[in-house]
Amino acid sequence: MSYYIGIDLGTSAVKLLLVDEKGAICGSVTKEYPLSFPQPGWSEQNPADWWKAVQHGILQLTEHLDKSQIRGIGCGGQMHGLVALDENDAVIRPAILWNDGRTAEETEYLNTVVGKEKLSALTANIAFAGFTAPKLLWMRKHEPENFARIKKIMLPKDYINYRLTGVHACDYSDASGMLLLDVEHKCWSPEMLDICGVTEAQMPRLFESYEVIGTIQGFVSGALGLPRDCQVVAGAGDNAAAAVGTGTVGEGACNLSLGTSGTIFISSEHFGVDPNNALHAFAHADGHYHLMGCMLSAASCNKWFCDEILKSTDYAGEQAPISKEKLGRNRVYFLPYLMGERSPINDTDARGTFIGLSMDTSRADMLQAVLEGVAFAIRDSFEVARSLGIDIRRSKLCGGGARSPLWRTIFANVLNIALDIPQTEEGPGYGGAMLAMVGCGAYESVEACAQALVHVKETLEPDPALAARYEERYQQFKAIYPAMKPLFKVLK
Ligand code: XUL
Repeated sequence: MSYYIGIDLGTSAVKLLLVDEKGAICGSVTKEYPLSFPQPGWSEQNPADWWKAVQHGILQLTEHLDKSQIRGIGCGGQMHGLVALDENDAVIRPAILWNDGRTAEETEYLNTVVGKEKLSALTANIAFAGFTAPKLLWMRKHEPENFARIKKIMLPKDYINYRLTGVHACDYSDASGMLLLDVEHKCWSPEMLDICGVTEAQMPRLFESYEVIGTIQGFVSGALGLPRDCQVVAGAGDNAAAAVGTGTVGEGACNLSLGTSGTIFISSEHFGVDPNNALHAFAHADGHYHLMGCMLSAASCNKWFCDEILKSTDYAGEQAPISKEKLGRNRVYFLPYLMGERSPINDTDARGTFIGLSMDTSRADMLQAVLEGVAFAIRDSFEVARSLGIDIRRSKLCGGGARSPLWRTIFANVLNIALDIPQTEEGPGYGGAMLAMVGCGAYESVEACAQALVHVKETLEPDPALAARYEERYQQFKAIYPAMKPLFKVLK
């Protein structure tokens, strides 16, 4: 038997899966690590913590296995985070993550002085605060000594791949989110590198997600017991990896991911750009392209409200009083912008907001508003896709939040589409293992692998009466942000 390890390098934890050659999940391990918010709106992590967690995870995952059977490793990772290495390949400063909003000024500079049109022509995207290019500009201005020491720039999962193989590599899907890649032509944009004050020599080498970048380095093989010839593929950004893991490949397929972030991912065989750049135009891990809307706080809104406000870890118990009759009838609304927002409003000043409270508002009404607010905000990106003529009738659903039957129902009816729940909900980790299988030659393409391994276990159809009630609620929700927007600018 051959085995593959799929790694999902997330924001709160790394999840590792052991998958056999037939696609069965034979083991899974989760290791958490700290996330720090050194200033409001900032978000950082220490790459050494990721690597420690991955090593412990691999040792635990493979402890009862004949490790010589492990053929490949594939990693899907949180996107956009800036990892900077010095001439000794030591990490220069903590990684600045995808949900960090410190670069409002640099983002504004890129979008207005360089200009959205030019950015879009060079990279197929405009600047968003979480993207990597504005972080480089921030570092150049605020930490010039650190900036001067940069020998290599990479993204979070690339750091894990580097520690495993000694190779500085990046794949096209993840590189797309740096705002340094010419996405259509799949090469670094010399002009963008210049604008950010870096050179191509500082960038990692580019690969397709399923291409092998190297094998395990000697001392890592010794420490983890992995065979020296175990192959590591370039892997993918977590959303592209999740799309692979849920079989979202080929023309027009859609995946919704309800993790710390919430994303809508539309796969395409052709390169295409949203003319307003509200959706990201990125490369896909299957060798093609995709459009994506990303909200910064999705399942994390539920986690925040339950953990921090209700002081409860019984998420299912908190949702129990929200009966079917209450759906589509809530008079409380919640804007889920706890870390500012990316798609489609691109506003680092936006903040979480409850509105519509009255003396009879209950704890459950507020929780319901949180769950609904996340679904309404995803619907905003969904509407952008619709305005481009993309007709989405069904979607896969994955991520931690997708485990709640109530939240699934809310999503199916707010979007008014059928939701297919794949047998394995481990999107990015499973996708990572699938990419490793393709890299090791077990399947001839990502599509072929997805066709063979991904199966839908359950489909949730919208209920027309409930979808109609949610349509009315969504129209009301849509009015709240434009009214609040000027206030967010001054309420700092
Ligand atoms: C996508 C994005 C997030 C992170 C989460 O653009 O920023 O989905 O990848 O890990």
